[in-house]
Amino acid sequence: MRLETRWWALRLAAAIALLGAVNAGAAEPSAAAGKQPPRPERTEAERVALSRELRAIYSRQPTAWPPPQVDPGVEWRELGRLPEVVHPETNSYSMAKAALGRTLFHDPRLSASGKMACVTCHEPLLGWADGRRVSEPHGDIPGRNAPTILNTAFMPTLFWDGRAASLEEQAEQALTNPREMAAVPDRVVALVADSPGYRQLYSAAFPEAEPTFAGIVAAIACFERTVVGGRSRFDAFLAGDAAALNDAELIGLDLFRREARCLNCHHGPTLSDGKFHDLGLSFHGRSNEDLGRYAITKDPADKGRFRTPSLRNVTRTSPLMHTGMFELRGVLTMYNAGMVTLKRQAYERNDPHFPVKSPLLKPLGLNRHDLADLAAFLHALEEPKPPSHPPAPPPLGDAQPPDPSRP
Ligand code: HEC
Ligand code: HEC
Repeated sequence: MRLETRWWALRLAAAIALLGAVNAGAAEPSAAAGKQPPRPERTEAERVALSRELRAIYSRQPTAWPPPQVDPGVEWRELGRLPEVVHPETNSYSMAKAALGRTLFHDPRLSASGKMACVTCHEPLLGWADGRRVSEPHGDIPGRNAPTILNTAFMPTLFWDGRAASLEEQAEQALTNPREMAAVPDRVVALVADSPGYRQLYSAAFPEAEPTFAGIVAAIACFERTVVGGRSRFDAFLAGDAAALNDAELIGLDLFRREARCLNCHHGPTLSDGKFHDLGLSFHGRSNEDLGRYAITKDPADKGRFRTPSLRNVTRTSPLMHTGMFELRGVLTMYNAGMVTLKRQAYERNDPHFPVKSPLLKPLGLNRHDLADLAAFLHALEEPKPPSHPPAPPPLGDAQPPDPSRP
């Protein structure tokens, strides 16, 4: 345990040093606010009394919960259970289509190398992510942590920088991106068309239609919309099972909504506002710079902004953040410090477009117990592990074999 703690401290220190960021004495005015000393710990008796009080309050309907601590102007939505998924009219749901999509999702033969499937980086047993810092590249480095595909049906935009507007668009990009699967659409269509097994799945999904790349992409997106959570202990609690959360988780829920200010960005049923914020993780001006949303919009105000991720099942998808540099404990420690404030180099001192950390982030002054309670609440958002019975890839027909010279 002690060793683990030391390891944590080291990792966090290394991460912060890497960021080239300091809190006290940096050029940013917000850093002057500096560290806030942690508030005193509660006694055991105080904790018991508090959790009894909170249990009475939070056992009521969310509409009767105390108002959250959000800043003026933030359009927040209460936490809650996930709604039903709405499949778009242009890609309506059928069981056969989702089954085809699921098989394709697991099939590495779609990729140029024949070795990389969607599931390689979005593994159900790893929370539909890949457990790596940044996902294993195909040749060049994509350089970002693979997010989960769980609940992406509810996301208004896809990718850390929101560059895809729909799961269809996203799946097409993931397939054809030379740095991901580098799939060649004609080859993918030929693979499906020439395999009797795939033909059968395809014609069940799209009766009387010849396989097309758009159909293949649509099936994958349709499958992804079936990858939905909603069976966490927090969901059971919301559904009226007051015993589903223990005391620490309950105190954590209250902290999340109020003193820890998380609801400013992580709200609604997915615990994401779907918007873009700068948490100070852009590495501006460094070799590993990633300006996030700015690369898409070219609006200087978007420099360093990334889409707020859902926090459902987040405890299964470490390492975290778009950089994949942190574990949960490190993330919470950084939020408690008001996140990192990038230091301006001398030549950047008057740069009007220097990325600005979100003003919604402030030092929180939470103590060790508080952070453990927050973490406990996030653990209560864990989904049961999905059963993993990967579908068997249908035998190949006469389709061309993958080209091994491709990355
Ligand atoms: C090499 C690893 C890799 C493979 C293979 C891969 N992905 Fe991803 N996926 C990523 C990474 C990394 C990101 C984030 C990239 C970014 O934001 O720029 C991502 C993002 C996504 C997202 C967006 C999630 C969100 O919250 O916005 C979805 C959905 C997704 N991938 C689905 C797929 C599908 C479908 C396939 C197969 C066609 C696939 N991925 C193949 C690594 C991979
Ligand atoms: C200003 C908006 C904002 C606030 C306030 C905020 N977050 Fe976040 N959160 C984000 C964004 C944006 C990211 C992704 C940032 C990135 O990768 O660069 C994120 C990422 C995370 C992650 C990592 C998720 C993953 O899948 O990698 C966790 C965990 C998290 N936040 C928890 C919290 C908690 C707990 C609080 C309250 C203490 C909080 N957040 C407050 C916007 C916010």
